[in-house]
Amino acid sequence: MSALQIGLVFTILLFKCDQVNSQKIGDSAVKKNEKMCQKLGVNPFFEIDLVVGKPWRIYYTWNMQLDTKCLDLIFKNTTTEIVRRVSNDMYKYMAEQPTWDAATLLVTMGKADHELLMFADQGAAGSFMGVPNMVRDGNIPPELSSVPLLKFQLKLLRESRFLIKMDCHIGVVLLAARPDRPPYHAELLSTVAILGLGDGYPACVGEKNSDEHMLLK
Ligand SMILES: *[C@@H]1O[C@H](CO)[C@@H](O)[C@H](O)[C@H]1NC(C)=O
Repeated sequence: MSALQIGLVFTILLFKCDQVNSQKIGDSAVKKNEKMCQKLGVNPFFEIDLVVGKPWRIYYTWNMQLDTKCLDLIFKNTTTEIVRRVSNDMYKYMAEQPTWDAATLLVTMGKADHELLMFADQGAAGSFMGVPNMVRDGNIPPELSSVPLLKFQLKLLRESRFLIKMDCHIGVVLLAARPDRPPYHAELLSTVAILGLGDGYPACVGEKNSDEHMLLK
């Protein structure tokens, strides 16, 4: 399997979602997605302290559709135990070994059995390489030495009200906010417009900011 296919499989598993625009992914799409990551890395802003702890809920996506599904991302600082566990699970499946000890963040998604170990990459703040734990989620394990390092660009936006996470190869982009202060529809759309990534899809539709809900009544 190519790097791209592995990334795609992981994305699909992760989101239990087959609505990824995979047919559009070819070499030219990868180049385009890498460019988008570079663009997102201009004026980077990312701080671990502002991201770890409480969940982030996905409210908008590009190149993937969640519709009414509400999915949360949780970021944790890594510990030696976490790194040991993920490296034990994954080292023999990796096409290329990361510097395991350099892992900084663990991201879990949906149920905690979907996890991604992240390593700060060179370049802009918020650039990361990632190792998906494809053993823990209980699916058929990948072929030996086949899993590439994934690449992501993360950025905090609008006084850290929003977090964007872009997969630099597949082009799946997630825009998340804190579920205890869900974004107003207008706020979400203006943030989407600023990003200039074109049209994507609202996610977790049906959940309303409670103030907005009152206004609509
Ligand atoms: C997580 O790590 C960062 C630096 O890498 C540190 O500043 C922060 O205090 C840590 N947070 C927790 C909750 O341990």
